[in-house]
Amino acid sequence: MSVQDQPTITSAYRSVGVTFESLVCNSDVFQETLRLAANAATKDVAILLLGETGTGKNLIAQAIHNASRRHNKPFVSVNCSAIPDSLLEAELFGSEKGAYTSSDKLRRGKFELADGGTLFLDEIGDMTPVAQAKVLRAFEYKQFERVGGEQTLHTDVRIIAATNRPLDQLLNDGRFREDLFYRMNEFSIEVPPLRQRLAEIEPLTQRFIKECNERFGSHIKSIEPAAMKRMMTHTWPGNVRELRAVIKRASVAAPGDQIRSDDLRLAVGVTPTDQIVPGNDLSISAMEARHIEQVLKKTGWNKKETSALLGVSRPTLDRKITEYNLKKPE
Ligand SMILES: Nc1ncnc2c1ncn2[C@@H]1O[C@H](COP(=O)(O)OP(=O)(O)OP(=O)(O)O)[C@@H](O)[C@H]1O
Ligand SMILES: [Mg+2]
Repeated sequence: MSVQDQPTITSAYRSVGVTFESLVCNSDVFQETLRLAANAATKDVAILLLGETGTGKNLIAQAIHNASRRHNKPFVSVNCSAIPDSLLEAELFGSEKGAYTSSDKLRRGKFELADGGTLFLDEIGDMTPVAQAKVLRAFEYKQFERVGGEQTLHTDVRIIAATNRPLDQLLNDGRFREDLFYRMNEFSIEVPPLRQRLAEIEPLTQRFIKECNERFGSHIKSIEPAAMKRMMTHTWPGNVRELRAVIKRASVAAPGDQIRSDDLRLAVGVTPTDQIVPGNDLSISAMEARHIEQVLKKTGWNKKETSALLGVSRPTLDRKITEYNLKKPE
């Protein structure tokens, strides 16, 4: 199987190929995650996938769909953070011809396109309150209207939602509706970070080396033990996506058929001892802000390289730069 990154904007497609068996799984903790997901897959409940960026939530959502009774119907994915609020309603529910000055034809929304299948609401932590209210209604009553339309349409979709943001914090801050949360949280699954799944690092590395050999024509046969050791002690803030990016780069950079320690461009973490400085804010978000700032500095504020090193998408990096108010030095 070739495991590919999900599109970052929005897409409607039949989920292809990803099954629970196709996921690399070698640790007890991840095995338990997949057991829960596979159990829920057959029950038609709404599922909420929680976990850090790059832990595999998109892949698990597709595997759930493919293991469900809906597998012959569409798997439709919407990245809620990538769509401005003004467009989200039309994106989700569709729009009638003439609903906007520019709309010369009827457009079906994701709820309609997913009918009978699965609607994957990705990055729900980024949905605005207006969008949340509309989604709740469609979710609760299985009905909606297209923008500019009067006819009420019915839909039968199974919703899988995902977020890498701490929803409980958003709930406390009043930025996420409790009623929607409880509705989506019929069954929530925590996807553990890679640093708690060390047994997966080696098989994932092998998987990604093979993928690079096939896709980029590299000829990597092995990885130096010292390089493997470094990977086992790295904290992987970007999780499996970061590991994949590191291997991709190393496969291209390696001069021979072996990945050496020197070929690994691991984002330099701030060691915990660096942090224990009187007056330092030791909260996780403060550490994250410092870490992102360091990597930006290291790449000369090259955001493409920084997001690859951190193993997060560009929109996520941009969001965090704004959130932490990071400024490029003059
Ligand atoms: N168990 C796995 N087996 C094989 N590849 C994996 C696995 N988990 C993750 N990956 C790889 O990591 C990439 C990132 O996974 P995915 O997009 O599902 O993460 P995510 O949890 O949805 O992240 P985000 O919160 O940033 O959206 C995948 O495209 C795939 O290459
Ligand atoms: Mg995702």
